[in-house]
Amino acid sequence: MDVSDALRRRRMVRSFDGAALEADLVSSLFEDSLRAPTAGNSRGISWLLFSGSDEVASYFSVTTDAEWRATSTRFEGLSRASAVGVCLADPTLYTKRYSEDDKKSSGLGEHVAAWPVPYWIGDAGAASLAALLLAEARGLAACFLGAFRGIELLRDLSQIPEGIEIYGSVLLGRPDGNDHRSPSLDLPGPTRSERVHRALFSPNPSAS
Ligand SMILES: Cc1cc2nc3c(=O)[nH]c(=O)nc-3n(C[C@H](O)[C@H](O)[C@H](O)COP(=O)(O)O)c2cc1C
Repeated sequence: MDVSDALRRRRMVRSFDGAALEADLVSSLFEDSLRAPTAGNSRGISWLLFSGSDEVASYFSVTTDAEWRATSTRFEGLSRASAVGVCLADPTLYTKRYSEDDKKSSGLGEHVAAWPVPYWIGDAGAASLAALLLAEARGLAACFLGAFRGIELLRDLSQIPEGIEIYGSVLLGRPDGNDHRSPSLDLPGPTRSERVHRALFSPNPSAS
């Protein structure tokens, strides 16, 4: 499968079959995703892996709450993911790299606040997309989940140091075929061609 096929076929899958995946399959996929570029080759992006039902259950026990688990139509399917990779970003590796001789004229080595665009966030997105595409190419299913709940509990659970930012999670597994179509897919919005501006930024017609 080439990259265009993987990009076209990829969909978030939110209902997994719960079967275990070989440990190598999981770790190599997340390692390979780190071929995604990082600014200045800072390499400040990493993954925290939860593999197998016990570790995945402990991930969900802190990143969801009882009320959400009881009311979400998605929880059961998501909770049967075979593995979860939490994407982490370390801004200090970026400031350190940009303090080096070949980069220091940028001024970005001074402090995290000097960065007009926090590239570690973009790089975390790139690694996450790479993981989603690799899942597609390797016949697996995956879903990205935002880091909205239980961040401090997750920090405590996995002893994630204070300065490390938690970007979100990629769930991995095999689909059980019981997915619900996401309502997000049916929302009106700009088309892809309206989102490619040519020389002038033209307002998108769907927004008016
Ligand atoms: C940064 C980001 C955060 C997302 N957070 C969630 C989430 O918390 N829960 C969820 O079910 N889907 C989440 N999604 C998935 C999007 O809803 C989904 O990608 C979008 O509706 C398009 O569907 P598709 O990926 O199947 O094409 C997220 C996607 C991105 C890129």
